[in-house]
Amino acid sequence: MSRICLITGGTRGIGYAIAQALVAAGDKVAFTGTASDGVLKAEHMLAAGDGGRVLGMVCDVRDPAAVQRAVETVVARFGGIDVLINSAGVGVGVPVADLPHDEWDRIIGTNLTGVFNCCRAAIPHLRARGGGWIVNISSLSSTGPFPGGAAYVASKAGVNAFSDALMQELRDDNIRVTVVLPGSVATGFNNRAPATGSEWKLWPDDVAHAIVDLLNHPARSLPSRIEIRPSRPKRSG
Ligand SMILES: NC(=O)c1ccc[n+]([C@@H]2O[C@H](COP(=O)([O-])OP(=O)(O)OC[C@H]3O[C@@H](n4cnc5c(N)ncnc54)[C@H](OP(=O)(O)O)[C@@H]3O)[C@@H](O)[C@H]2O)c1
Repeated sequence: MSRICLITGGTRGIGYAIAQALVAAGDKVAFTGTASDGVLKAEHMLAAGDGGRVLGMVCDVRDPAAVQRAVETVVARFGGIDVLINSAGVGVGVPVADLPHDEWDRIIGTNLTGVFNCCRAAIPHLRARGGGWIVNISSLSSTGPFPGGAAYVASKAGVNAFSDALMQELRDDNIRVTVVLPGSVATGFNNRAPATGSEWKLWPDDVAHAIVDLLNHPARSLPSRIEIRPSRPKRSG
């Protein structure tokens, strides 16, 4: 049966690959980004074939009112929400002593508060459908911190803890919550194009593949935390 999915950060990278995979699986897919040109471009590419099942929206996950409007738009267009995938994320590699306060706010606001905003707005609609799935994209760096990544790893460690608590909160409502921790993925994350020599990294499609598999799990089974790492990582030195 076709699912109704909302993906944050679906204009490129991992979120876009997930959107592509779910469209290919026959689902209805709504997605967000903050840049309108990116939303339009992604909508155009995803809708080739069947535009009726794809909806792109400009929405900053840091803004609770904008998130609420986006969720209501999906419900009005497709009739509900079955799956929420929180993939929107940002990061910088700056030591704490040099990190401006507004950069801290941007990272925590997008990666952690944004997940809260989207879950809070979507949960009543998942409940109204009798259940569903929330998938939060964290990062393996949340359990393997690195210098310069304090804000980013703190935001993702927060997502892990948030997801674990939410999983327990919602499981009796037939809503499953999974946190996915990818290792290095070859995307333009942090405004950096994948460098040559990135072939060892995961591809966005690899993460999308795992999520499509996840959503096909039988109802009695809940993989609550999934770690995905490159099978042959590049070793330094
Ligand atoms: N790449 C990696 O190595 C890696 C590894 C582990 C985990 N992750 C996580 O995976 C997720 C996706 O990363 P990616 O590599 O696919 O990044 P990406 O290619 O930079 O894509 C990020 C997406 O998030 C959107 N976005 C950013 N800020 C937003 C906001 N405030 N509100 C709504 N959308 C926003 C972007 O659209 P706009 O630019 O239009 O806002 C874009 O669609 C992130 O949560 C990241 O932390 C990435």
